[in-house]
Amino acid sequence: MRILSIETSCDETGISIIEASDKTITILGNALASQIDIHAQYGGVFPALAKRAHAEKIVPLLTQALTEAQLLEKTNTPADTNLEAKLPSELAFLDQKETELKAHLVPFLATYQKPAIDYIAVTTGPGLEPALWVGINTARALSLIWNIPIIPINHMEGHVLVTLLQEKEEQHEEQRKTQYTLQVLQFPALALLVSGGHTELVLIEDYGSYKKIGQTLDDAVGEAFDKVARVLGVPYPGGPMVSKLAETFRSSSLTQEITLPRPMLHSGDYNFSYSGIKTAVLYKVRDITEAQQSPLTDIQKQMIACAFEDAAIEVLVKKTLRAIDEYQTQTIIVGGGVAANTYLRSTLAQKVPDTTNVLFPEHWLSTDNSVMIAIAAYIRIYTGHNEQKEGAVLTADGNLSITDGGFRK
Ligand code: KG4
Ligand code: ZN
Repeated sequence: MRILSIETSCDETGISIIEASDKTITILGNALASQIDIHAQYGGVFPALAKRAHAEKIVPLLTQALTEAQLLEKTNTPADTNLEAKLPSELAFLDQKETELKAHLVPFLATYQKPAIDYIAVTTGPGLEPALWVGINTARALSLIWNIPIIPINHMEGHVLVTLLQEKEEQHEEQRKTQYTLQVLQFPALALLVSGGHTELVLIEDYGSYKKIGQTLDDAVGEAFDKVARVLGVPYPGGPMVSKLAETFRSSSLTQEITLPRPMLHSGDYNFSYSGIKTAVLYKVRDITEAQQSPLTDIQKQMIACAFEDAAIEVLVKKTLRAIDEYQTQTIIVGGGVAANTYLRSTLAQKVPDTTNVLFPEHWLSTDNSVMIAIAAYIRIYTGHNEQKEGAVLTADGNLSITDGGFRK
């Protein structure tokens, strides 16, 4: 079966096509465009700008991914320049809020034939609603014109399930990154979800069956990385850069002179709080720069980044270890952009019991992408958990929880 997937929840526009058969997954086409340059000047993601960038990029990416998958063929007739007038009335929704998207989509639909795709998977939440709508409306239009069913997917479930991809052994060099095997998940499993918007511990009782056991009460850990980056004068998105500064300090022989608080480490539950560490960093920087009457030196920046990363990661790891013990889970999944963090990867892998299997996404699939949306859709179909909720309509839901699946009723 072939699945075309769409991801537009935040600042990455992604289109992928996978072919799946039993436990074998082949990535046939994958196109991803980042908006980092657009948002960097503001130090964060602006929803209206994100929406416009998605609307401009999504059709070129669709063309690119389908071409890579060798599934795009022109119609036999010359491009129908008058398609717009003949569009079914169901597509009128594009006129209301998606004029930019429509300007790209209509010529695309007029030029190309329906590709050999069985399902369209699309992220319906959580994320920025104006951004999510671009993906959803693209999916609706393609589904109507091509007559292909839509599978709504929760972005966080994508981050979880993409960790089940294992590189196929004995594959030829040119197949690397394209051929994978799906590993079977042992239940109950635990997921640590860490991104720019989420810090959650989730118990997975079965495919599609999630129970949240704790979450952040304020900022997400990725958000804290990004805010600390701003305080240190590192460009957006700061997570990877703060981590790099921390690594430089850790591998030096310098002595750490700064300790930061570990909020909620001993709270006795699985909740987190990251706004306090960020504020502590802010005060620390203010104290140092006022005392020395000059900006931070490079070494001071590295030292602060390291103190922050140590504190942020220690809380994540300790609470995860406690949950592994309490729920007796043999598999722990780490998903979301912060799963790219090398210090989190090494600390967790080192501290979990020998019997625990730790699953991280491949590095290139850690941050937002559309491959993970296709994988989540396939696993829902494959395991028989693709139930459509009665009365549910396809809608963008910025606060969708992983416990809701792809949509809330
Ligand atoms: O999952 P993601 O790509 O987007 C959201 O759904 O939020 O996660 C992005 C977040 C950002 O906050 C970014 O700074 C953080 O993940 N991040 C990292 C690293 N790479 C990305 N944080 C720490 N260390 C990293 N290496
Ligand atoms: Zn994400």
